[in-house]
Amino acid sequence: MKIKRIGVLTAGGDCPGLNAVVRAVAKHALQNGVEVLGFKNGFDGMVKNQFIVLDDKAVSGILTRGGTILGTSNLANPFSYTLPPIGTAKKPKDVSSLVAHTFKTNRLDALITIGGDGTLSMSQKFLEMGLPIVGVPKTIDNDLLSTDYTFGFDSALSVATDAVDRIHTTAESHHRVMILETMGRYAGWIALRSCIAGGGDICLLPEIPYNEDAIIEAIEVRQLKGKTFSIIVAAEGAKNEKGEMAVQKTIAGSTDPIRLGGISSKIASLIEDRLQLECRVVVLGHLQRGGTPTAFDRWLSTRFGTEAVDLVLKGQTGNMVALRGTEIISVPIKEAVANLKRVDPQGEEVRTALAVGTSFGSKTIK
Ligand code: F6P
Repeated sequence: MKIKRIGVLTAGGDCPGLNAVVRAVAKHALQNGVEVLGFKNGFDGMVKNQFIVLDDKAVSGILTRGGTILGTSNLANPFSYTLPPIGTAKKPKDVSSLVAHTFKTNRLDALITIGGDGTLSMSQKFLEMGLPIVGVPKTIDNDLLSTDYTFGFDSALSVATDAVDRIHTTAESHHRVMILETMGRYAGWIALRSCIAGGGDICLLPEIPYNEDAIIEAIEVRQLKGKTFSIIVAAEGAKNEKGEMAVQKTIAGSTDPIRLGGISSKIASLIEDRLQLECRVVVLGHLQRGGTPTAFDRWLSTRFGTEAVDLVLKGQTGNMVALRGTEIISVPIKEAVANLKRVDPQGEEVRTALAVGTSFGSKTIK
């Protein structure tokens, strides 16, 4: 089948590199005589048939720009749509048929969805409804199975590592315990890698339940060695041994129904109460998602975008592009969303951190 027109959308949380993928998709498609419609605000643009035509001019100069020129949303889930006036949080509506209608009305031959696990799970449902889709894995969390890297992760990691470096010098000067809270949801990749790269002393991860006594002990051990400060890197999804996380609020209708946050303050109170040490917290938040993508993310995004178009041209929809080693490959979307990729508590990266003296605030992993 001759491919004449495709759609592209960016959904879920934004991250550096989205525009680089959109640009690569548009440029490569145009080179092959394929028109590209960029749907606005994730699947919402498909529900409402809102798009912009991505010609050469529209994607010029966006390679290095953070965010997404198409806009995004993690509330617009067509299978459980809660945005007024169509639906509400109490009365979600299934508007997936509108997406199929938009696809048909615009005579699209395929759709490229750029998103994380939520977006790709929705994409899988649309595939099962017969829409030809190719997925591109995005998220600062790097928690998608089947790809070694999602784009956006490297940029977030470099922000987090820079933050560890910066709090190091101030912690040292003031003889304080500084706690850096990173994003990452239920995976500890940003926390673990920034802790290794920045030389953090204690690392708290969702994958390794922490024990309060073990955290206190790790600081006391440092004190006995004459160290007057400590750096803790805590993933927002870190759990205690009872499996409790710091939850800010729950959001009905969102593809991300739990907003995490507050682990750093919890740990600061613990240390202040038990050791009477001065603590300060830094919650990195959306600084990890904003701004210019790193060279690695631009390189990866561009390769992902062009490969996604090649898959469409070859009729290989139903797949997600992925990085395996240094090769770009494709994997069935179904496989990619089957499970999250999380830190292995027994794995080499955790052992590396332990080998340079980092504690995981655990009685078992040490
Ligand atoms: O999935 C990306 C992410 O930044 C997570 O690390 C974080 O928990 C979440 O999104 C924050 O989402 P929001 O922008 O909706 O607050």
